[in-house]
Amino acid sequence: MITAIYPGSFDPVTLGHLNIIKRAANAFDQVIVCVMVNSAKSGTFSPEERVDFLRRTIHLDNVEIDMHTGLLADYARKKGARVLVKGLRAVSDFEAEVQMAVVNSSLNPELDTMFFPSGQKYSYLSSTVVKELARYSANLTEVLPREIIEDVKMKMEIKRGECDGK
Ligand code: PNS
Repeated sequence: MITAIYPGSFDPVTLGHLNIIKRAANAFDQVIVCVMVNSAKSGTFSPEERVDFLRRTIHLDNVEIDMHTGLLADYARKKGARVLVKGLRAVSDFEAEVQMAVVNSSLNPELDTMFFPSGQKYSYLSSTVVKELARYSANLTEVLPREIIEDVKMKMEIKRGECDGK
């Protein structure tokens, strides 16, 4: 039985993430999608909101949603997982992702990282781009799961109002 972890900020989950999750669910027996803290990013949605978005969006029998605030390598050990799944978009993702893979393997030698090339439609999609579109009330049906579009729009439009009002 192979358990894989797909870690990320998921702030919020996009159709690009969803594409990777479905492919990982086809490739491994069990997939744990784990909302983690990226210390380089401040975060728009709370970890609980991000988990809720993922739960409302993903309905696959072998996929579970979780969150963790410590090191990924320790979480993987606790879960008995030996595979990390990461999506690779443009070449610009490559260096940072390989660096993280090497660090995670040195912290937990049982652990290896497998990269999935992002779906062609999603090569330049990121949560940051989605939030920018939402801020200006653009159409989000091509970039976000329909279950969360209204919540993301509402939060980003409020944020825009706060900035404009200053
Ligand atoms: O979606 P992101 O922001 O690219 O995901 C990055 C994430 C959250 C997976 C990464 O920052 C992470 O693993 N954070 C947990 C802390 C950790 O284990 N850091 C060591 C890896 S260098």
